[in-house]
Amino acid sequence: MADTLDARTLPLDETSRSALDERGLAYRLIDHADGLVLDAWSRAVHRGFTHGEMPAEEVAEWREPMSWRRLLGVYDPTVPQADLPVATLSSWVAPMSVPGGELPMWAISTVTVAGTHRRRGIARSLLEAELRDARAAGVPIAGLTASEATIYGRYGFAPATTIATWRVDTGRAAWRAPDAPGRVQYLDREAAAALMGEVHERTRTARLGEIPGWPRRWRGRVALAEKKDEEVVTVRYVDESGEPRGVMAYRIEGHAEEDGRGVLTIRYLVADDDVALAALWRFALEHDLVGEVVAPMRPVDEPLPWLLDDPRVPVSSVTDHGWLRILDVPAALEGRAYAASASLVLRVTDPLGYADGTWRVEIADGRASVASTEDEPDVELSVLELGSAYLGGFSLAALSAAGRVAGTADAIGALDAALRVPRAPFLSIVY
Ligand SMILES: CC(C)(COP(=O)(O)OP(=O)(O)OC[C@H]1O[C@@H](n2cnc3c(N)ncnc32)[C@H](O)[C@@H]1OP(=O)(O)O)[C@@H](O)C(=O)NCCC(=O)NCCS
Repeated sequence: MADTLDARTLPLDETSRSALDERGLAYRLIDHADGLVLDAWSRAVHRGFTHGEMPAEEVAEWREPMSWRRLLGVYDPTVPQADLPVATLSSWVAPMSVPGGELPMWAISTVTVAGTHRRRGIARSLLEAELRDARAAGVPIAGLTASEATIYGRYGFAPATTIATWRVDTGRAAWRAPDAPGRVQYLDREAAAALMGEVHERTRTARLGEIPGWPRRWRGRVALAEKKDEEVVTVRYVDESGEPRGVMAYRIEGHAEEDGRGVLTIRYLVADDDVALAALWRFALEHDLVGEVVAPMRPVDEPLPWLLDDPRVPVSSVTDHGWLRILDVPAALEGRAYAASASLVLRVTDPLGYADGTWRVEIADGRASVASTEDEPDVELSVLELGSAYLGGFSLAALSAAGRVAGTADAIGALDAALRVPRAPFLSIVY
């Protein structure tokens, strides 16, 4: 896709600036060049996520990952620590993988309001401004990962990708897949972090709903940043020709106490191909002194059960992960590829207006054309269901069974068939 827009170049939303100003609050863009202001902003984020004072080392580590984001703060001049914003938000435009390509997504992160200033509409001012900014910039979709599932629906965001936590009793996990031709090798955590970034970048467009990562994210996965931890171990898989094809970070706990039945937690695992993925899973499952392997934030359709003799041994619990907000229906629908043809009229309701409308959707040869129409709809849903169904992660049939999509069974079925994707959408990043 074309270079994504640099969100830092966009001006402050005037509607929210004046609404906050009337309440004695100053809504500001953070100047990245002003280190003191930037650091105070980071400390406010830390406090906002129910922490105390951010360690100085971590404040310094935040500078790089915040340098390419648009940073916003709300300041209250009456508080004793007036240099710390009472609300924060960051955003940037990320290429998100969709079926058949990528689309620009307005990523929203680090949304906090100080404990002393909550439930006065400050987050609403910030989020509504973001949607206006994104739409004005021509970005068709906004996205975020949510600390609580009850916060963002009111702004039109809905879950679109899922994650699973897998648990495996290693004593029952007899391996059935073929032996991998390559080798698993230890490597130091710096090198593992670099390799994670490389493999993620090479493979991310194969995962729907995925976005690019950044160096500190990988350093966090290997515990060189965020919560530092010397006990985290990293290995890679190299193929027969010695090329690195996958990397895993893990930590083992409890192996000394319970008769050697420790718990190995996979902190991150990314691979170029299925062979490397299986080899790294096998390394974890067959590790000495480990009774259980736990792997949070993995795909719901991880091939794990099919790698073992007994497919009932791995158990998973699933939750939502990536949330999407459609801002431009024609651009979003025309921006992805489809698995089947369909011809129908779609009505989308959106209390905030961006996605509201009735659209004739013609899908042929894997692409859609979308035009506004006055015709009666075959399928009716709100912007929330559209966001959930957009990447193919949730079916319209299931949403219809919950009374959240209306229409004829034929039209719903046709649109579902068109939206279908081969693998469950999977965003591997929390942002
Ligand atoms: C979540 C948070 C940003 C909300 O900020 P806020 O300024 O209190 O939110 P607002 O006053 O603008 O609330 C807007 C609406 O959201 C609702 N709301 C706010 N926080 C909510 C929550 N945690 N759960 C459910 N609803 C919530 C409000 O009740 C209000 O509802 P309305 O539609 O009836 O008006 C703030 O509580 C916070 O910083 N929490 C800790 C950090 C965090 O979890 N951030 C989110 C990261 S993804």
